[in-house]
Amino acid sequence: MAKLGEASFCVLVLFLSLVSADTDNRQDNQVYVVYMGSLPSQPDYKPTSDHINILQEVTGESSIEGRLVRSYKRSFNGFAARLTESERQRVAEMEGVVSVFPSMNYKLHTTASWDFMGMKEGTNTKRNLAVESDTIVGVLDTGISPESESFSGKGFGPPPKKWKGVCSGGKNFTCNNKLIGARDYTNEGTRDTEGHGTHTASTAAGNAVENASFYGIGNGTARGGVPASRIAAYKVCSGSGCSTESILSAFDDAIADGVDVISASLGGVTTYMYEKDPIAIGAFHAMAKGILTVQSAGNSGPNPTVSVAPWILTVAASTTNRGVFTKVVLGNGKTLVGKSVNAFDLKGKQYPLVYEQSVEKCNNESQAKGKIVRTLALSFLTLTPQSKEQVISMFHTLTMSPKAAVLKSEAIFNQAAPKVAGFSSRGPNTIAVDILKPDITAPGVEILAAYSPLVSPSATTLDNRRVNYTITSGTSMACPHVSGVAAYLKTFHPEWSPSMIQSAIMTTAWPMNASGTGAVSTEFAYGAGHVDPIAALNPGLVYELGKSDHIAFLCGMNYNATTLKLIAGEAVTCTDKTLPRNLNYPSMSAKLSKSNSSFTVTFNRTVTNIGTSNSTYKSKVAINNGSKLNVKVSPSVLSMKSVNEKQSFTVTVSGSDLNPKLPSSANLIWSDGTHNVRSPIVVYTDGY
Ligand SMILES: *[C@@H]1O[C@H](CO)[C@@H](O)[C@H](O)[C@H]1NC(C)=O
Ligand SMILES: *[C@@H]1O[C@H](CO)[C@@H](O)[C@H](O)[C@H]1NC(C)=O
Ligand SMILES: *[C@@H]1O[C@H](CO)[C@@H](O)[C@H](O)[C@H]1NC(C)=O
Ligand SMILES: *[C@@H]1O[C@H](CO)[C@@H](O)[C@H](O)[C@H]1NC(C)=O
Ligand SMILES: *[C@@H]1O[C@H](CO)[C@@H](O)[C@H](O)[C@H]1NC(C)=O
Ligand SMILES: *[C@@H]1O[C@H](CO)[C@@H](O)[C@H](O)[C@H]1NC(C)=O
Ligand SMILES: *[C@@H]1O[C@H](CO)[C@@H](O)[C@H](O)[C@H]1NC(C)=O
Ligand SMILES: *[C@@H]1O[C@H](CO)[C@@H](O)[C@H](O)[C@H]1NC(C)=O
Ligand SMILES: *[C@@H]1O[C@H](CO)[C@@H](O)[C@H](O)[C@H]1NC(C)=O
Ligand SMILES: *[C@@H]1O[C@H](CO)[C@@H](O)[C@H](O)[C@H]1NC(C)=O
Ligand SMILES: *[C@@H]1O[C@H](CO)[C@@H](O)[C@H](O)[C@H]1NC(C)=O
Repeated sequence: MAKLGEASFCVLVLFLSLVSADTDNRQDNQVYVVYMGSLPSQPDYKPTSDHINILQEVTGESSIEGRLVRSYKRSFNGFAARLTESERQRVAEMEGVVSVFPSMNYKLHTTASWDFMGMKEGTNTKRNLAVESDTIVGVLDTGISPESESFSGKGFGPPPKKWKGVCSGGKNFTCNNKLIGARDYTNEGTRDTEGHGTHTASTAAGNAVENASFYGIGNGTARGGVPASRIAAYKVCSGSGCSTESILSAFDDAIADGVDVISASLGGVTTYMYEKDPIAIGAFHAMAKGILTVQSAGNSGPNPTVSVAPWILTVAASTTNRGVFTKVVLGNGKTLVGKSVNAFDLKGKQYPLVYEQSVEKCNNESQAKGKIVRTLALSFLTLTPQSKEQVISMFHTLTMSPKAAVLKSEAIFNQAAPKVAGFSSRGPNTIAVDILKPDITAPGVEILAAYSPLVSPSATTLDNRRVNYTITSGTSMACPHVSGVAAYLKTFHPEWSPSMIQSAIMTTAWPMNASGTGAVSTEFAYGAGHVDPIAALNPGLVYELGKSDHIAFLCGMNYNATTLKLIAGEAVTCTDKTLPRNLNYPSMSAKLSKSNSSFTVTFNRTVTNIGTSNSTYKSKVAINNGSKLNVKVSPSVLSMKSVNEKQSFTVTVSGSDLNPKLPSSANLIWSDGTHNVRSPIVVYTDGY
């Protein structure tokens, strides 16, 4: 096997956004990065004193106090300094200086995703450790790496009494008091040879492991949402995919084993009817037994999500305030800032730049050797048309043999978070058109979590690096965040049903703002909004649903006895039929058949008071910008005398001339002054 090193490597540079180095609006004393390439090999070379000398020469001042911002001396040579425009020009001419570019003016930020969601490390976040230790998260995935520190059993007592599972991970696979269960449906053994399952399991419930990073990028404490909880790994996927029968068997076992939450970062290649989708079927059984299934929406945005059942909590992926950026210094001195995770320290050496449409070529050693292969065709990260054009035109205007140096990635503060990722699959729901999907968004971009040392972080065969932690993106990474939140809620409210957990998570979500056009970012991207674990502990009111409600919904979808039996697993007769939009779901959505005629649509809902007795909730409706809707709530005030009391209300939405290209939306908020119970209301038309 080829070695990945300086002589032979392949770097995928994916430009999502371009920032040109020679900006026109320069200010005096702006911070510039003076990049000097590789560190000289002389043993007596002292980078910092060299940086100070250069700075003194350039500024003509002996005191450079306040000028030197940072010295780079571990992976490459260079420094950041405050320079005037003329100083910038002078330093660029100096020997040893490869490139000078403005600092992005962000600070290094190590906040990880759980901090971003408000679950701070240490004492600020309340935990119920005794119950947390009795909570079990079942992960359906590619298996797990049992030796990872994230799953160490150190400090854990024996498995909870309710646990009925086994450890049958295959040869040489040992469980412990953290990783209490392992089952394999692939005949490969439960050991993770893909890395995916290790990553998702550690995000949901991994131990807190200090000083974790991907070659120093994003260093900090890696941890799951419920670090004191136990994990059971169900290996349903191998490198060749995940079979229907494996998935169904895993649900079957996990439910019986006694897990509290099921995390499934997987889905079909297209959207299947419920009776053909093993996750929908398995999750129905889990729901009937009081277990919530959390599923990723899919990575084919802007195409539709594959997770469409109302008894599943469907998760989209969004950014956090930690972004990973990579700078590329072109042969002509221009610096581009792109999105990719590059841990290679190429020592500032410039390599021939090759334009490729296909990823396969990057895996072909004879073609990739000694070149930077720029590919524009990766399916999991998409380019905006503008930046793609910019990249191509920039490529064409370069010299005959373009060269570039790729710098090691940096994790920096990303102010514009959260934003739903382009790859995150969207609504509308193609099966139940009146059920809004996805339900919620959660961190799924550039997530640092545990990895399997049996596979390279780039998952290419050329790459022989092995790591215990890596950074990766996908709705697969978002899903276990919400699974971890669901488990966290269970530790305070063990009696909550799956629909209560789902409702609590959805109605307390951070509001997201619509942006862009089409499905770029609307409720069809983020559902109810961004998960807020702390607020979800105390939702006030919940929208409850049980097995019989879901059956009445399927009857309302005109499922016949045969297909109903496939989903419910038992003979069911339809005594009640619920119109899908009247399912007691925490969001409200309706597809209308005509875009230009006037319409009136009603939603019936019932809320259960789980806050305090004698509370009065007043309704408030906020119409979203650009939507022309009238929304009436009747009754508009709900007086709840006791806890567990239920009250019903009707929401009537009317309007005309709906925008055929965008969903029209509003928010209904029930507020008692303490709790704000928010539900998105979305109407859209045929033409969408
Ligand atoms: C990776 O984890 C294994 C098992 O915990 C440990 O033995 C090894 O030292 C770790 N490697 C690194 C680079 O931390
Ligand atoms: C069992 O796993 C350990 C830890 O990964 C490894 O060192 C050992 O070689 C394995 N033994 C066999 C027989 O695979
Ligand atoms: C953190 O990890 C880095 C590299 O992985 C290592 O050099 C450093 O000593 C570690 N620090 C601590 C406090 O463990
Ligand atoms: C991350 O690494 C940097 C550089 O080694 C170090 O200064 C910082 O303390 C580390 N942060 C954490 C949270 O470990
Ligand atoms: C790799 O590239 C070489 C040269 O273009 C070609 O001959 C070979 O078939 C390629 N190999 C694969 C596996 O695509
Ligand atoms: C949405 O917009 C409001 C008003 O501009 C702003 O205060 C809020 O932070 C935005 N929220 C998000 C999630 O971007
Ligand atoms: C039930 O519905 C399925 C799917 O729509 C259909 O294939 C089947 O023929 C129906 N069975 C009966 C008895 O109507
Ligand atoms: C509006 O509806 C009428 C009647 O259904 C139809 O004739 C007309 O073309 C529609 N106009 C638009 C702009 O869709
Ligand atoms: C919805 O609620 C209204 C008012 O309570 C009631 O009249 C109507 O029958 C309900 N509709 C359905 C389909 O339950
Ligand atoms: C709620 O109100 C009723 C009637 O006013 C009163 O009897 C009861 O004590 C109140 N309960 C609480 C917990 O305040
Ligand atoms: C509302 O939408 C209009 C048109 O799409 C846009 O120009 C305006 O900036 C938006 N206002 C806010 C507050 O988002």
